Amino acid sequence: MEQGMTTEENEKATRQISLRPFVLSDVDDFMVWASDDKVSKFCSWDTYTNKDDLLKYMKETVLPHPWFRAICVGGRPVGAISVILGSGNDRCRGELGYVLGSGYWGKGIVTAAVRLVVASIFMEVEGLERVEALVDVTNKASQRVLEKVGFHKEGVLRKY
Ligand SMILES: CC(C)(COP(=O)(O)OP(=O)(O)OC[C@H]1O[C@@H](n2cnc3c(N)ncnc32)[C@H](O)[C@@H]1OP(=O)(O)O)[C@@H](O)C(=O)NCCC(=O)NCCS
Repeated sequence: MEQGMTTEENEKATRQISLRPFVLSDVDDFMVWASDDKVSKFCSWDTYTNKDDLLKYMKETVLPHPWFRAICVGGRPVGAISVILGSGNDRCRGELGYVLGSGYWGKGIVTAAVRLVVASIFMEVEGLERVEALVDVTNKASQRVLEKVGFHKEGVLRKY
């Protein structure tokens, strides 16, 4: 049992959210977090400043992606969670990534989303044995999310 949130709060967060594939008409909701410097700060992409660039990213990367889901509250996307699946000899591994609109931080939403993903992905993806995540050493909130779900810190990748 993790500290911070009560079981009831955790269950509430889990009940509140659903995961589903994105559709192109989600672009305006996606833009809310993609255009927020607070969100992109710890991510490998630059803050989006125009909708066309985001539409291109959605068409080329998000929609064809085998495991890229919208985190929805009340059916509306407020964030995203993905697992990049390895290929060939690496197909036993998946790399988890997630983002959430800053207006929704601190409510247990991503913890609940990661829980849903790890509860189902090993059954959904044949041959998957490990899900890993890379987190900036200063991104304490993200480290805490992983810790709460039961991930174990395995090391620090220097100058990664
Ligand atoms: C990191 C992020 C995904 C967390 O999502 P979230 O839904 O707010 O997370 P949760 O509410 O489920 O849990 C956050 C936990 O971190 C803790 N936390 C938040 N800021 C913290 C900080 N600066 N130091 C230590 N802990 C912190 C919260 O208290 C909470 O723990 P608790 O339940 O024990 O109190 C969200 O802030 C985000 O999208 N950030 C920008 C993108 C990003 O960093 N993505 C991850 C890249 S690896």
